Amino acid sequence: MKALHLELADFRNYVKQEIDFCDGVNIIYGGNAQGKTNILEAVYFFAMGKSNRARRDVELIRHGADCARISLKFSDRMRENMLSAEIYRDKRKKITINEIPIKRNSELVRRFNVVYFGPEYLGLVKEGPGIRRKNLDILISQIKPGYLGALGEMRKIVESKNALLRMEHPNLTMLDIMDEKLASVSTNIILCRSIYISRLHRLAQGIQSEISAGEESLEMRYSCCVGDVSGLDAAGITAALKAKISEARTREIRLGEAVVGPHREDIGFYINGTEAKLYASQGQQKTIVMAQKLAEVELIEAETGEKAVLLLDDIMSELDRSRREYILEHINDTQIIITCTDTDGMRVPDTARLIEVIGGCAEIRKG
Ligand SMILES: Nc1ncnc2c1ncn2[C@@H]1O[C@H](COP(=O)(O)OP(=O)(O)OP(=O)(O)O)[C@@H](O)[C@H]1O
Ligand SMILES: [Mg+2]
Repeated sequence: MKALHLELADFRNYVKQEIDFCDGVNIIYGGNAQGKTNILEAVYFFAMGKSNRARRDVELIRHGADCARISLKFSDRMRENMLSAEIYRDKRKKITINEIPIKRNSELVRRFNVVYFGPEYLGLVKEGPGIRRKNLDILISQIKPGYLGALGEMRKIVESKNALLRMEHPNLTMLDIMDEKLASVSTNIILCRSIYISRLHRLAQGIQSEISAGEESLEMRYSCCVGDVSGLDAAGITAALKAKISEARTREIRLGEAVVGPHREDIGFYINGTEAKLYASQGQQKTIVMAQKLAEVELIEAETGEKAVLLLDDIMSELDRSRREYILEHINDTQIIITCTDTDGMRVPDTARLIEVIGGCAEIRKG
């Protein structure tokens, strides 16, 4: 999968811009606040139907404009495709795939796949579980049909359940109905998480071992809300989940929130058997995140037959030379779009395209 041509109109600080990407390494460089990350954000938008950083779509519209328009021509194994989006101030959003309008983001995901690695992911190991769940959910949504829809449904149920639990005297029959629904929609989520964490684990383990010259063995452990699910089928997971939720009923009423479900799960990283969250050095944490991200590219390809586009936002300066070179050498045949403030210290491949960004204007300087 390759991003070929991006067009931006009234998107962030861009009035009008067209960018052609090359098949290999694209390096977008320029000073701070010029619009480098905005380009990655537009590309990412077409993978998930929303920004990776804006809380609301309206933030994407250029100040003073009414509507942001973006489009991306990309190729997959079969053909060239065109994705377009119009984002309006009144919250309307129109997305089309090859000129056919779509109603939900779930119709967009899995058309154009990306793996995004920006500075916010450097906290993947040490921060709270939210970022680890988000990272995993973005990955699985791009692989497994129905996963994004199931997540949305699960979140809605948890929200309604929390509203009910916060009432002075929650209706127990209503709670029973919600718990039944929660257990049923969560079963699929848990099954997917369990399968893909173990596949990701195997791939990331190989990469971690390679980067650390065999010194570090990485392990990823799924902290599932029902405990160990290996060996359980869907019916077994649903039953275990129902029992856990029912056990937690009094506590949930006391706390006024749902405490059992996929919305509370986590993934633990371990290096040579010790918990990375507690003991890993800064460098080890960076290696773990890098191994994760490169494993994500491999997993998407193994599962979908398509290579995702790798988006690296301002991350090269965070990595030492050997890790930077490892990324560029390890990723073969994968399109990469990198942003950085300057290319000093980076071994720029001969075939790379260099794109300079100054004040919302991007121009190809080489390649
Ligand atoms: N909706 C908007 N309308 C106009 N300008 C915007 C909008 N949203 C963001 N900007 C501007 O876009 C610029 C930042 O873009 P971006 O985040 O791409 O910077 P960058 O080049 O990646 O910088 P850095 O190197 O600091 O990460 C800022 O000047 C910001 O004020
Ligand atoms: Mg930036």
